[in-house]
Amino acid sequence: MSKKGKPKICICLSGKTIEENLRILERYRAVVDYVELRADCLEPSERFNIRSFPEKAQLPCILTIRRKQDGGNFEDGEGVRLVLFAKALSFPKPDAKANYAFVDLEDDFRTPVIEEACHTFGTRIVRSHYFHDGIPENFDTAYEQIAQEDDEIPKLVVNPQSSADFIRFLEWAIRVPKREHLLIATGAYGIVSHVLAWRFGSMWTYASPLHSGMEIAAPSHFDPFDLRNIYNFDLVNEQTELYSLIGQHSILASLSPYLHNKAFREMGKDALLVPTPVDSFADGLKILELLGGKGAAITVPFKEDVLPFLAFHSTDVKRIGACNTLVRRGDAWAGYNTDADGFERSLLEFLGKQDLSGCRATIIGAGGAAKSIALALFRKGARCLVLNRTYSAGRDLARKYNFLYSHLDDRASDLISEYSDIIVQATSVGMREELDPISFYEFKGSEVVFDLIYHPSKTLLLKRAEEAGCRVLNGYKMLCYQAAGQYKLWMDEPPPDIYAQLEQPKFS
Ligand code: ATR
Repeated sequence: MSKKGKPKICICLSGKTIEENLRILERYRAVVDYVELRADCLEPSERFNIRSFPEKAQLPCILTIRRKQDGGNFEDGEGVRLVLFAKALSFPKPDAKANYAFVDLEDDFRTPVIEEACHTFGTRIVRSHYFHDGIPENFDTAYEQIAQEDDEIPKLVVNPQSSADFIRFLEWAIRVPKREHLLIATGAYGIVSHVLAWRFGSMWTYASPLHSGMEIAAPSHFDPFDLRNIYNFDLVNEQTELYSLIGQHSILASLSPYLHNKAFREMGKDALLVPTPVDSFADGLKILELLGGKGAAITVPFKEDVLPFLAFHSTDVKRIGACNTLVRRGDAWAGYNTDADGFERSLLEFLGKQDLSGCRATIIGAGGAAKSIALALFRKGARCLVLNRTYSAGRDLARKYNFLYSHLDDRASDLISEYSDIIVQATSVGMREELDPISFYEFKGSEVVFDLIYHPSKTLLLKRAEEAGCRVLNGYKMLCYQAAGQYKLWMDEPPPDIYAQLEQPKFS
């Protein structure tokens, strides 16, 4: 953790002109600590003006002129680059703020004249090495290469191609002796190294002004406001208790970190939920344990894979056969499922009812989500029809509760009509494409239609149902209420109202 005890944010500015960069910086000034000028992104004529940037920016500045081969835009050769560095670092002003605080020089760019200028004028060298296509064979060797000079700041950037790669990086980064350095993993697998840069001993986290429309400097960057507002960068510290959101890459669009971290903030909890996209549940658990995490939210497609790792299974986990919440109990993990309760609460609230006896409902799907829905509807007394693409899975789920079942195709139309008080869509159809799993069914207008998908906020199914006069609901409230259940399990106290109050944010 850096000097003032709070993690620092460095905003990467990749505008075409100095003026554009300064304009964007103004919007972010309140939430960032450092500014990186990506001079390789400037129009060639603007590059002559880089000397004046630190004085205008009035924040500690890092000068970077990234070459094409290193993922940047600079193509004019090393001679021209050398001249640009020299120009930017020369004629130091007495006010240190008017000079570059740092300059990013690659490991293979060792030029005594620039290094001498840096030493003389107090500019720190960030000595960087990029592994664009993966991770190094040997992290220690790669690090030693860039950590030769005590007064330089080694910056190692790797690009894990799998969660196993990221685990190797994390295991190494946790044990490498702390000094002022930057240890970064790019891409979706590396997200943790950005959100928890301080746990890696990194001096700052690089961020891009995503919400400003500026082209971003690197795909895995967060917007500085998101680091502050979603990942509580102004609150977290070495003692912060960590929780993981374990799932596949799609979790990067999940609202769970937004919800939980807002609740932690509101309740004064020194806790943080961090997304960990992984290839297998075992990898997610390994990362959680390496970070010393206290619990996890588990999502698609790992809710069943987690079962063999549990020392304790709650009643709902046993009934549903899936687990969405992990809680550390001593050295072991206890598994719970808050999906059925979350669904039940959101549906009953929407209907303004206490129970569903006499209701006839159709469940579309028989996967992990549908299993929770089936339990909740059964508990509340509804009689159901289960429709699934794979007949046997639909049959197995329906038999547990003595429900009816059928194939998910147009032969089911009449049956849906009989079980149409409530129609619950619990497959992933409609999430990525405009598809409707019951396009063959004509709505009467009296159905309540609940699609568990909340992104997009209205699927084709919901649009069609609404046009026919049906009352429709998406999965956002269910997400909130299952999250409230997770909070209760993790914190062992009632969840705050924020879970019921937070409006669904608009997706860009
Ligand atoms: P989840 O935990 O989100 O429920 P899952 O356990 O993988 O995820 O279940 C996915 C559900 O969506 C299943 O009911 C699946 O049907 P199959 O049992 O036939 O696989 C259903 N599903 C996924 N893609 C589908 C598609 N293109 N058409 C119809 N159903 C689909």
